[in-house]
Amino acid sequence: MPERGRSAGGSLGASAGESSAGAAGHRRTVRSELAWRLVRAVLGDQITATGRSVLDVVDAGGGTGTLAVPVAELGHHVTVVDPSPDSLAALERRAAEARVTDRIHAVQGDAVALSDIVGPASTDLVLCHSVLEVVDDPAVALQSMAEVLRTAGALSVVVANPNAVVLAKVLGGHIAEARQALTDPAGRWGAADPMPRRFTVEQLRDVVEQTGLQVVAEHGLRVFADLVPGALSDEPGLAGMLLELEAEAAEDPTFRALASQIHLLARRI
Ligand SMILES: C[S@@+](CC[C@H](N)C(=O)[O-])C[C@H]1O[C@@H](n2cnc3c(N)ncnc32)[C@H](O)[C@@H]1O
Repeated sequence: MPERGRSAGGSLGASAGESSAGAAGHRRTVRSELAWRLVRAVLGDQITATGRSVLDVVDAGGGTGTLAVPVAELGHHVTVVDPSPDSLAALERRAAEARVTDRIHAVQGDAVALSDIVGPASTDLVLCHSVLEVVDDPAVALQSMAEVLRTAGALSVVVANPNAVVLAKVLGGHIAEARQALTDPAGRWGAADPMPRRFTVEQLRDVVEQTGLQVVAEHGLRVFADLVPGALSDEPGLAGMLLELEAEAAEDPTFRALASQIHLLARRI
């Protein structure tokens, strides 16, 4: 019988408590805290694996620096590749506020060109959070991400899960849209759905494995946080308990399948 409630090698649960703030003062919420813990854990693993305390990180589609800035605050060098000049301008402001400008390199570009931009086998960790949904060709973008990794380098991917949309649509009384999201190969609920595509854990695993990377972990993020009223998840005592529950459920296959987001960690072997 599969074991329930395993934490991600201690990375999700150990120091769980209230949501936290980075040095730049950007408060993380229950909705974003688990993803940050996973990133922090993989940074620790890469430091151990490489023997270097300062890592080369690429944030593909890093946008305004929600992840890149806190990673740079830990002392690592981060290259953010994103096509949006507005996002990159906001990133630069945020980096200046956090006094990490010297450790952040912002490049206007597409994820498919990552290998040309940062060079093959140049990177310890690629972050690709909430981006595969919108790129032109996820397989080509992932191939470029795989190419920039050094041996034993890691890829952290987060995508939207169509199963969560099915549940949300049913709960909102939109049954036809729920059925459309359930049967559509891209997990879209209709023509008005602003999201070009979503990925189940199986779809994400398949497309990542096509790059030759080895999938080493899969998690469900925001299993419950999007289902409870905001006031509840913002209430300090309950927020901590909700976070603990999220950490426990993240690796349970039953709950992972229903999470709002899927996180996958892969390695170049
Ligand atoms: C939802 S935001 C996610 C931002 C950030 N990764 C995060 O987790 O907060 C999606 C980002 O992907 C970027 N993006 C869109 N198309 C892209 C592409 N082809 N290559 C790289 N980034 C892209 C957008 O400009 C935007 O900054």
